[in-house]
Amino acid sequence: MDFQIRSVHCRVGGIRPTNSHMKKIICITGLDGVGKSTLTDALAQQLPGAQPVNIWDLFESQAPCLPFKSKRDIDDFLCLLTPGSRLLFLAHALKYAVDTALQSDASILVMNAYFYKYFATEKALGAAADLITSLQKNFPRPDVVIQLTLPPSMAAKRKKTFSRYECGLSQKPDNEGFIAFQQKAQQAWEGFDKTGWHFLDARKMPKDLLGEALGIISQNIDIGL
Ligand SMILES: Nc1ncnc2c1ncn2[C@@H]1O[C@H](COP(=O)(O)OP(=O)(O)OP(=O)(O)O)[C@@H](O)[C@H]1O
Ligand SMILES: [Mg+2]
Repeated sequence: MDFQIRSVHCRVGGIRPTNSHMKKIICITGLDGVGKSTLTDALAQQLPGAQPVNIWDLFESQAPCLPFKSKRDIDDFLCLLTPGSRLLFLAHALKYAVDTALQSDASILVMNAYFYKYFATEKALGAAADLITSLQKNFPRPDVVIQLTLPPSMAAKRKKTFSRYECGLSQKPDNEGFIAFQQKAQQAWEGFDKTGWHFLDARKMPKDLLGEALGIISQNIDIGL
């Protein structure tokens, strides 16, 4: 029995020692729909040895034991939870993504949204501040944080569909619900220590944002370009 448990740990979690200090960590964050994934993926392609890291990496891995079959399933599950249990669920998913990325061969990790977006959203949904503060300590501080800024009304226009989660757990997610909740979530971002953060106006074209982000990153860390 003991052997079986250890062997499962080997396969699922991997027990290679992590050396997070060898890796550089870049974070692209901001409210829902501002263009984080677009910029994260472009950076991961552009930077040698870089890998994008997303909260849903495990759930998109197609592992047969996973309980969720679609993004809609995850969205409904999030809406079922209480604020504290939802925060812990999100933190566990992100922790898995970060831990496995730290164990990978990548030399640069590009965090998509990272805990900032999820913890700010959860604060807006009523999670306890002390739980958020203690969970934050489990995630490495990025070398570079870039926040994309865009009014929620413009982010709404970019979105093809709205999830219940990003509309404040609404039963009927729509444009108005998205804008109202994102405006509320925006206030929760004030709680982060943003010392050293960089801010990019997300109204710009993707190629211009990529160029500016590469400039910021190369001024702050050695990216081997
Ligand atoms: N700079 C940009 N200008 C115009 N449209 C953009 C820009 N960046 C991304 N988009 C488009 O906006 C939509 C949302 O972009 P993206 O998925 O990258 O945002 P996101 O912040 O990751 O959203 P989410 O919070 O939902 O994950 C996509 O259709 C994308 O093609
Ligand atoms: Mg995204």
